[in-house]
Amino acid sequence: MAARNLEELKKQYSGASGLDSAKQGPGGPGPGRGRGMHAHGKPKNAKHTMKRLLSYLAIYKIKLIFVLVFMIGSTATSLAGSYMLRPVINNLTDADKTVSERVSYLIMMIAIMLGIYLVGVAFTYMQQRTMLVISQSAIEKIRNDLFDKIQSLPVRFFDNNSTGDVMSRFTNDVDNISMMLDNSVVSLISGTITLIGTLFMMIYTNIWLTMITLVFSPIFILGGSAIGKMSRKYYTSQQEALGAVNGYIEELVSGQKVVKVFNHEHVCVEEFSTLNEDLRNKQIHAQFWGGVMGPIMGNTSQISYSLTAGIGGILCVLRGFDVGGLTIFVNFARHFSMPINTISQQMATIFSALAGAERVFKVLDLDPEPADRENAVSGDNIKGHVILDDVTFGYDPDKTILKNISLYAKPGQKIAFVGSTGAGKTTVTNLLNRFYDIQEGRITIDGVDIRDYKMDDLRRNIAMVLQDTHLFTGTVMDNIRYGRLDATDDEVIAAAKTASAHSFIMRLSDGYNTMIEGDGANLSQGQRQLLNIARAAVSKAPILVLDEATSSVDTRTERHIEHGMDRLMKERTTFVIAHRLSTVRNANAIMVLEHGQIIERGDHDDLLEQKGRYYELYTGKKELD
Ligand SMILES: Nc1ncnc2c1ncn2[C@@H]1O[C@H](COP(=O)(O)OP(=O)(O)OP(=O)(O)O)[C@@H](O)[C@H]1O
Ligand SMILES: [Mg+2]
Repeated sequence: MAARNLEELKKQYSGASGLDSAKQGPGGPGPGRGRGMHAHGKPKNAKHTMKRLLSYLAIYKIKLIFVLVFMIGSTATSLAGSYMLRPVINNLTDADKTVSERVSYLIMMIAIMLGIYLVGVAFTYMQQRTMLVISQSAIEKIRNDLFDKIQSLPVRFFDNNSTGDVMSRFTNDVDNISMMLDNSVVSLISGTITLIGTLFMMIYTNIWLTMITLVFSPIFILGGSAIGKMSRKYYTSQQEALGAVNGYIEELVSGQKVVKVFNHEHVCVEEFSTLNEDLRNKQIHAQFWGGVMGPIMGNTSQISYSLTAGIGGILCVLRGFDVGGLTIFVNFARHFSMPINTISQQMATIFSALAGAERVFKVLDLDPEPADRENAVSGDNIKGHVILDDVTFGYDPDKTILKNISLYAKPGQKIAFVGSTGAGKTTVTNLLNRFYDIQEGRITIDGVDIRDYKMDDLRRNIAMVLQDTHLFTGTVMDNIRYGRLDATDDEVIAAAKTASAHSFIMRLSDGYNTMIEGDGANLSQGQRQLLNIARAAVSKAPILVLDEATSSVDTRTERHIEHGMDRLMKERTTFVIAHRLSTVRNANAIMVLEHGQIIERGDHDDLLEQKGRYYELYTGKKELD
């Protein structure tokens, strides 16, 4: 495989995809779609997003008022402290006072200044601390809201969005918001207060000099905002490049084995260095405009001070303006441009935080799973009569996957689905527990439409072993107990025995207390399946669905499981999906699915006799008649 070029790589790995719960196209996430960290584009509706973000702070109104008071306090003390220099310097140059008078006045003034500054430090401390508590509490709430939301989203969302895409909302986006709430908001407000306060002091000190300073300021303000714009632009492209590098690493680390199997290491190294080089270039630009040009601009504003000082000096000589006044004025003029610089520097952070917030809010605004209907039925005594009545369904309503499926399964029966890959077997099970809602027809359990049950009750009554096994971080015991949280240890062990998992668990280093990590990487594929079966076995659900549950288990163990499960299934309705047809031989009814339709049904012997599709699948022979 030839290495892809930068454009292709970035398109795939920086995840230009928007997050999408409504997308209903087939296929789900394509390769690399929405992978990894995300580009931080411009916020689309900055004002609205800002408002919504601030609403998270609004619950801390009282604390915010305190923060504001502390801010005003700290600005006021800093201005007052600076102002003290005026009498200090004027006193030093006052020829009417004796030396000792001047010294004692100086000491007194310095003591007062020190006092003022100390109060200022206390204000700053309180302001920062309070703000940190507010902003981090707001972030905590945002994270909780996001997690709650994700738990409530329908399966369609997870089928259509990659893990990396969802993850980056928790990490990158929330981090950016956090950075903004911690620093930028404070800088913005305190900068504005300082600006106003300083302007006031400048006017108070000398109105003419103030006017001169104000004439020069726009030059620096415009320069500052131009630099801000550049740094924003490069910051965005830096984040994009960073997203691509992160996405690439994420994919390559998780797919390392496949990379090795196909000898793609050298191509990967090449592709990675292409992405990495791009990141370097973008970072140089971003840092240059953000970190270098800002300070340079700050230095050029020295020209402004010199001018102010020069004109001020003339005023001293010709108009009797006091030297102390001139000193503090130059000092204020310097402070005056500082908040402007700080604010323009913070703009980049604010914009990327707003873009992040927009992406977080987009998830928060997605529709959750449909709420239970009014008067929803609780499923306390479900026996397990499952009826599919002329069910038609497509993940995308325009593209039908299942067509006119009808069947009736009674408690104690085992219904099998067989058929080629992609025929729609898993899709049928997705409908039973309402991972997806059907478009036409009806599914009832004990005569009640499944949409009329409370969702929790419905799912509690259906134990499933999914085609993709999943184990959580925790002990073997915890993982099995996931099937029913109030199961006792003995019940867990009994379930493990039913699933033929007991003997291998006992051979693990800590038996049932062995920790499982990384989705069970320390177990074999078949062992993982056994634990998933045990998890379903521990549940007391009257309906059991096994989707390729024993596909990786050897046939002898499978036989054992079958016997174990048979006891369990006596009172239950069981749906079994299997490619290995020996697994389903003893089913009460076998449904042969092809292109979303049941083309044959009957028990094993009936179907063999029909010499149709099942016969072909079972014997591997195509009947020529
Ligand atoms: N989440 C989804 N979104 C859109 N289309 C999907 C989704 N899941 C499956 N499909 C499509 O539905 C069809 C049936 O898929 P299904 O998973 O039911 O097949 P299956 O019979 O279980 O196959 P296998 O034996 O490989 O497990 C396939 O064409 C598949 O592309
Ligand atoms: Mg399947």
